[in-house]
Amino acid sequence: MTRVFSGIKPTGHLTLGNYLGAMRQWATLDQHRSEALFCIVDLHALTVDHDPARVRRLSRQAATLLLASGLDPALCTVFVQSHVDEHARLSYLLECVATDGEMRRMIQYKEKAARERRRGGSVRLSLLTYPVLMAADILAYGTDEVPVGQDQTQHVELARDLAVRFNQRYGHTFVVPRATNPPVAARVMNLQDPLSKMGKSDDTGPGIVYVLDEPDVARKKVMRAVTDSGRDVVYDREARPGVANLLEILAACSGGDPEALAGAYASYGDLKRDAAEAVVEVLRPVRERHRELCADPGHVEGVLRDGAERARAMARPTVDAAYRAIGLLPAASGAGAPVLNAAR
Ligand code: TYM
Repeated sequence: MTRVFSGIKPTGHLTLGNYLGAMRQWATLDQHRSEALFCIVDLHALTVDHDPARVRRLSRQAATLLLASGLDPALCTVFVQSHVDEHARLSYLLECVATDGEMRRMIQYKEKAARERRRGGSVRLSLLTYPVLMAADILAYGTDEVPVGQDQTQHVELARDLAVRFNQRYGHTFVVPRATNPPVAARVMNLQDPLSKMGKSDDTGPGIVYVLDEPDVARKKVMRAVTDSGRDVVYDREARPGVANLLEILAACSGGDPEALAGAYASYGDLKRDAAEAVVEVLRPVRERHRELCADPGHVEGVLRDGAERARAMARPTVDAAYRAIGLLPAASGAGAPVLNAAR
């Protein structure tokens, strides 16, 4: 059976981009057709300036939202990255396979480091090595497919490269994974700045729809989306990024194809109205289920506890095999452990 792994970082409130680009696909498709693991990757939230209490709060919220979006613990494994030591254990080994040049070429590193420096802050070393930890997340589970939005494709490519290099140097240890993207809305753009991704870690703003926005708030954000000069509705990502974004959002929420939908609209106003309603309707059941789940925090905790146990059992054999393959001496454990030859 295909093994699927994906993750979400608790650095902000989850957005419509997270939902359409990743979470919805996990719930409607991936958990049904594969052996799937979905992870709240809290260690990744420490790569930028962070408030410990907020990371804890957002981790709980992300877990609750994953369940609210339809992930079913009977079908898939939902867990928190820091509850499973194997991620950090494997990350170090992969740092010994990756190069610093590879890390510095990562687009997200370049963008985030530049932003941090513009603010006068310093860049954490973990921001540079973050893609290696992400590769460890993926490779520890023998993952075949990684369903992600488009912005993560380069990171999954790195995981592939590291798997191939490790296997060549030290013997076959890792499955070589590949990224999968949703057919539409793999890159939802900021409604106020359609040249930038709608990102949860960015400053809050009218261009970002959050999964938990009240319907009126979400509706207003879509209605106020920046459109392009011109009046006719055409699907052209280059020349009309604002309208193309709305068409993609509408297509992702209500079904259909952005190009075909474009032909059905005579004005930007009508398009915005339909896109706004479609967004509100797609998020409504998630918000409602989230409210119910919040009333039962013990349930979410239990899911995470069981998930971590299952994940640990899945990751350990692969990570142990990587330790042996790379040349580390196995720890002797109890009776029957191999006697070490002192002469060697
Ligand atoms: P993160 O937390 O930024 O995003 C989680 C998922 O949401 C997708 N996404 C989007 N898709 C479409 N449009 C958008 N505007 C948008 N914004 C976010 C992301 O592509 C992602 O699929 N590095 C990862 C987390 C991670 C991970 C992993 C993912 C860590 N380890 C292992 C997969 C496998 C990240 O920061 O995602």
